[in-house]
Amino acid sequence: MKDKLEALKAEALTKLQAVNDPQILNDLRVKYLGKKGELTEVLRGMGGLSAEERPVIGQVANLVRSAIEEVISAKQELFQQQETESRLNAEKVDVTLPGRGLPQGGIHPLSRVLQEIEDIFIGMGFRIAEGPEVETDYYNFEALNLPKNHPARDMQDSFYITDDILMRTQTSPVQVRTMQAANGESPVKIICPGKVFRRDDDDATHSFQFHQIEGLVIGRNIRMSDLKGTLQQFTKEMFGPSAGIRLRPSFFPFTEPSVEVDVNCFKCGGSGCRLCKQSGWLEILGAGMVHPNVLRMGGYDPEVYSGFAFGMGAERIAMLKYGIDDIRYFYTNDMGFVKQFKGI
Ligand code: PHE
Repeated sequence: MKDKLEALKAEALTKLQAVNDPQILNDLRVKYLGKKGELTEVLRGMGGLSAEERPVIGQVANLVRSAIEEVISAKQELFQQQETESRLNAEKVDVTLPGRGLPQGGIHPLSRVLQEIEDIFIGMGFRIAEGPEVETDYYNFEALNLPKNHPARDMQDSFYITDDILMRTQTSPVQVRTMQAANGESPVKIICPGKVFRRDDDDATHSFQFHQIEGLVIGRNIRMSDLKGTLQQFTKEMFGPSAGIRLRPSFFPFTEPSVEVDVNCFKCGGSGCRLCKQSGWLEILGAGMVHPNVLRMGGYDPEVYSGFAFGMGAERIAMLKYGIDDIRYFYTNDMGFVKQFKGI
């Protein structure tokens, strides 16, 4: 029986030494040490041994068992190590590889131009005023000297919610609201940026929705030269130091006299090109001295106070400044278009 045990040990150890797969190792463990394994099988014969032989054989059996167990656990440890090592290798991260860049957003060209215009006027002491996009007929037209059935309303047809409530066609109603809040006394110096809405063509230069920035200055002794100087300063900062302006007589119901303001073409310097349609000038805004009726409706005495106002389309300024030839680019979220303005 001892020989049997020694033979079993020798066979087991040889086989175990050669194993290089955890599954086979486990199979061998079951084969030799399991409940129905070969060692148990041999020990089962111990019943037939004499009382002297039994402890001797028992001791041998224990030695055989522990020898086999030792090899098995050494092998298990080795396999464990090998597996950890190969996992580490497989999951290795090369920290020196350059990172994958995340797409970074940029400011929309229109927002950029709006901010730029706001900054220029804030630099001249203007305050920003905002008002509702859904307006009453009174603030949008009536108080701006545009009574019902006035022919100039035609140019600013809009979207009506009721007969008296509409999507504002200009940001001028904010001027009226500001004047009324000032109680006819304090000087006013504001710009009103915001969305406006008109029933308009949908083409390269028109849109049913666009952005305006209007300005209003009210005080004592405000003159046309103040208007001219303010706009001259604005155009120089917006389009460059060589930008000059000219005023052409025009008509707006809320200003008298009214002017159309042109800036000399910054592309050709005034000699004539496609951008300025060979005229050397680019029309950029409307302006004028606040009409006495508008002052009166805003609560100011036109005998004591005077003021000037101006209004421009932000899209038009952006299109001129960046050479954009279709207003629809601003609204269609074409990444190819907007990306060009990143970091300008
Ligand atoms: N609100 C005018 C428009 O939209 C622009 C303007 C404002 C003209 C102020 C003169 C003075 O046409």
